[in-house]
Amino acid sequence: MALLDLTRFGRAAPRFLDMAPAQADFARAVIDGLSRPEKQLPCAFFYDSIGSALFDKICDTPEYYPTRTEISILRDDGEAIAQRLGRAVQLVELGSGSSLKVRLLLNQLEAPMGYVGLDISRDHLRMACERLAADYPTLEVTAICADYHDEVPIPPPRDGMPRRRVGFFPGSTLGNLTPPHAEAFLARWRHVLRFGGTEGGGMLIGIDLRKDPAILEAAYDDAAGITATFNLNLLARINRELDGNFNLAAFRHLALWDADRGCMSMYLVSRLNQIVRVADQRFAFLEGEAIHTEDSFKYTIEGFQAMARRAGYTPAAVWTDPDGLFSLHWLEA
Ligand code: AVJ
Repeated sequence: MALLDLTRFGRAAPRFLDMAPAQADFARAVIDGLSRPEKQLPCAFFYDSIGSALFDKICDTPEYYPTRTEISILRDDGEAIAQRLGRAVQLVELGSGSSLKVRLLLNQLEAPMGYVGLDISRDHLRMACERLAADYPTLEVTAICADYHDEVPIPPPRDGMPRRRVGFFPGSTLGNLTPPHAEAFLARWRHVLRFGGTEGGGMLIGIDLRKDPAILEAAYDDAAGITATFNLNLLARINRELDGNFNLAAFRHLALWDADRGCMSMYLVSRLNQIVRVADQRFAFLEGEAIHTEDSFKYTIEGFQAMARRAGYTPAAVWTDPDGLFSLHWLEA
């Protein structure tokens, strides 16, 4: 009897493809954003290692419902979801992060032909995919370090053509794009997904729903102040990385429901007239002046399905929690 079954363990090393995504230029984005008449900073820069850890803590606050609600949907409807996707799929996760959600899906899927994790954060991606490969020894795991806003060629599984290629985009991360950009993003991925299998592909995507603004505003301004710290970390990061001198106590966190645009918006508001230095540039703030740091668009089920149709998909199923807080959509590509 063999002590080590090498065919089994041979799988455990994920294949790693480095598309060397252009390092987004933090300095440029900050100088550009703070030079505008309406100051802004891109929300993508929240996620340095401190910001990513703070986001995990946000998900544990009682007010921030999206993460735990999406997980409850994956648990409660996992079987139905897996049935929709069918057997022998190649699963492509956009922004794979720590991969808890995809495990719930993998546990239900029938004989998946491969998992492809795509993330911009190289070390995080590598570790998450190594853990996944170790825990699912029969699954072919591929890690692609890339920006999912770029064209990313996805290799087919080594074992041949999957029945279909399925994109998995949980977390309502699509909500950070304005609706026109979100639609263009969906349309672009549709082409990648539909040509990757013997049958048409699909996308399983998590979308946060519109609801009582009080629930939304609490979710983005939790009582323990974790979201405030997460927002202010952007200024701390500028101080750390760009030789800035932001006084964090001189700014306050603000989260507002924008009914006209249908999004939660976050701001950092100056508490006083002040001048802040970043690298060798100076920026003046008036008391009450805001830096816009994030939009998180919320949809109705019908509104999102209409957008998916415009992007070329056929919305074929949707699952929600009993309170109708969050939705998971199955879109045929
Ligand atoms: C991870 C981008 C989906 O928009 O709800 C959480 C980020 N911002 N609290 C969201 C976030 C404030 C989150 N996404």
